[in-house]
Formats: sequence, C-alpha cells, structure tokens
Amino acid sequence: MTVSSWIATWAGLVPAGVSVLDLAAGGGRHTRFLAERGHRVTAVDRDVSGLAATDAIEVIAADLEDGSPWPLAGRHFGAVVMTNYLHRPLFPYLFEALQPGGVLLYETFMAGNERFGKPSRLEFLLRDGELLELVRGRFSVVAYEARMISEPKMAMVQRIAARLVA
Ligand SMILES: C[S@@+](CC[C@H](N)C(=O)[O-])C[C@H]1O[C@@H](n2cnc3c(N)ncnc32)[C@H](O)[C@@H]1O
Repeated sequence: MTVSSWIATWAGLVPAGVSVLDLAAGGGRHTRFLAERGHRVTAVDRDVSGLAATDAIEVIAADLEDGSPWPLAGRHFGAVVMTNYLHRPLFPYLFEALQPGGVLLYETFMAGNERFGKPSRLEFLLRDGELLELVRGRFSVVAYEARMISEPKMAMVQRIAARLVA
C-alpha cells in the first residue's frame, strides 16, 4: 500500500535519527517508509501479521482498546505517527510517548466521511476542528488540513503535523 501523502510530506519534519512510534501500524506502510529514512521504528498493532521485525523495526502486538496497560510505559519517541485509526482514550498516551520537541503526524477520517463509506460511525470520525483542539496549548502546529481527498479513495480527513512544545 502506498504511503499517505501527508506522512510523505511531513516526514521531513521528523529530526534525523530519532526513534518513531507507529501506532495501529497495520501492514506497516509507514513503519517501513520511516525505517528506510533511517529511523528506528516501533510498530504497534493488535494484528502484527503484516509486520516483520528487523534491526530497524520493533514490532509489538498489543490491543490498544481492551483496557490492558499502555504497552510503551516509560518510553519516549522523537515522533509518533498514527493514520486511519481513532480511539480517543489513547490521546493522553500519544502525548506521553513524545519527548519534548517531538513531532506528531496524525491523519484520520472526520465527520462527513459517512458520505463516502466506512468508517461512518461517529465514534470513529473526528469532529470538526478536533485535532486542533487536541493539541492546543501543548503543540506548535506546523500544518493542519480538514478536507475531502480523492486518493487513495474519496474520503473526508483531518490531518496534522505538530511539534510538542519543549
Ligand atoms: C485502517 S487500519 C490503519 C493501518 C495503518 N495505520 C495505515 O494507515 O496503513 C487500522 C489499524 O488499527 C488496528 N487496530 C484496530 N483496533 C485495534 C486495537 N484495539 N488495538 C490495536 N490495534 C487496533 C487494526 O489492526 C488496523 O491495523
């Protein structure tokens, strides 16, 4: 699967050599992309069948919604990447996982996506402006979009590239 254009564009914001956390990494398209850029990447998903550990890639199988302890307690990353996944109780852990100055690259579906198919349930769709609200006062926002996209399919997405204020 191709790399999200948002991640491809803003990967340059991630400082060279820092470790990266790819949450709900799926088949690992961003894990591999970031590893190829020289980062050590930790990929977490409940289904790790599409992920292969290498010298640069650590794979952690974890259910992020079943109430288990946060699998990365005490660990900090130079960037956190999350795409096409929304589980609001995780938000505090995204911040906890970032070291000061760390970069958040997050893209997922927003309200209005139900016109185009799934996800269509409100619990899986960001509210208007929700990512901006999420980072307000804690992050410096480098880029933000809330818009319809046509590739890889028609969808309504919100996406942000932001730096945790040191
Ligand atoms: C739409 S895929 C996105 C994958 C990847 N981020 C990407 O954009 O290619 C959503 C991912 O969330 C994972 N996921 C869903 N529920 C989860 C849970 N409770 N704990 C951990 N991962 C979960 C799925 O296994 C799947 O890989």
